Amino acid sequence: MGIENKVAEPITDCAARGLRHIAFIMDGNGRWAKQRGLPRELGHTAGAANFKKITRYCSDIGIPAVTVYAFSTENWKRSKTEVSALMRLFGEYLTNEFDEMMVNDLRVVFLGDRAPLSNSLKVLMERMESASVNNSRLLNIAINYGGRAEIVQAVNKLIAEGRTDITEEDITSHLYTAHCPPPDLVVRTGAEMRLSNFLIWQSAYSELYFSDVLWPDLTPGDIDAAVAAFFSRERRFGNA
Ligand code: IPE
Ligand code: IPE
Ligand code: MG
Repeated sequence: MGIENKVAEPITDCAARGLRHIAFIMDGNGRWAKQRGLPRELGHTAGAANFKKITRYCSDIGIPAVTVYAFSTENWKRSKTEVSALMRLFGEYLTNEFDEMMVNDLRVVFLGDRAPLSNSLKVLMERMESASVNNSRLLNIAINYGGRAEIVQAVNKLIAEGRTDITEEDITSHLYTAHCPPPDLVVRTGAEMRLSNFLIWQSAYSELYFSDVLWPDLTPGDIDAAVAAFFSRERRFGNA
């Protein structure tokens, strides 16, 4: 952690100042558990609890859209125990957070290929999405999500529509994120400096922020630091 980590005044009007969408690669749950001599699954439990705290804080500081990377297309490689624990936590979120979602005026959208998920999860996901479709703040949850797979499914949809001469706009509008702008800021916790197949099309001009903090330990103060770093940068988008 560098000097970016201490911020005098938190910025609380993010959207008005140009930060409308923040995306998180929630990494470090396993190492958090290991540090404490706990099974990895308990790291995910702590991570899931912190996800609720952090997404709420982002909305408190005026960021209208948040995306989180919860499970990648590559995470199936993990042990059966770990994958089951992640799916169980996801199911708990879908049942326990429904009322809170409505109270908080949150629209939940799931990004990814849901085909391999259990039927009970799929039903709960559809229920959450359809009940919240008219809510104003946005939470995208990437589950069984992979950026390359997302681009491939977009191209296949365009082929099925009989399209030729594909434009960038066509791809963008056939991604799982067609309903929202690209992330202004992508934050990865857990000290790894890579995207791990997350929003690879959408992040072409996102600001990237890497934190050494493990996801379950991430605090609102760390978000303030990431946000302050974002506003200290000049986004040129190729201009001089
Ligand atoms: C991120 O934490 C959560 C998921 C990938 C589901 P990890 O489980 O990758 O934690 P580390 O990287 O092993 O510490
Ligand atoms: C990225 O973390 C996926 C999620 C946070 C869901 P990983 O821990 O799976 O990424 P790698 O394996 O370190 O690249
Ligand atoms: Mg990891």
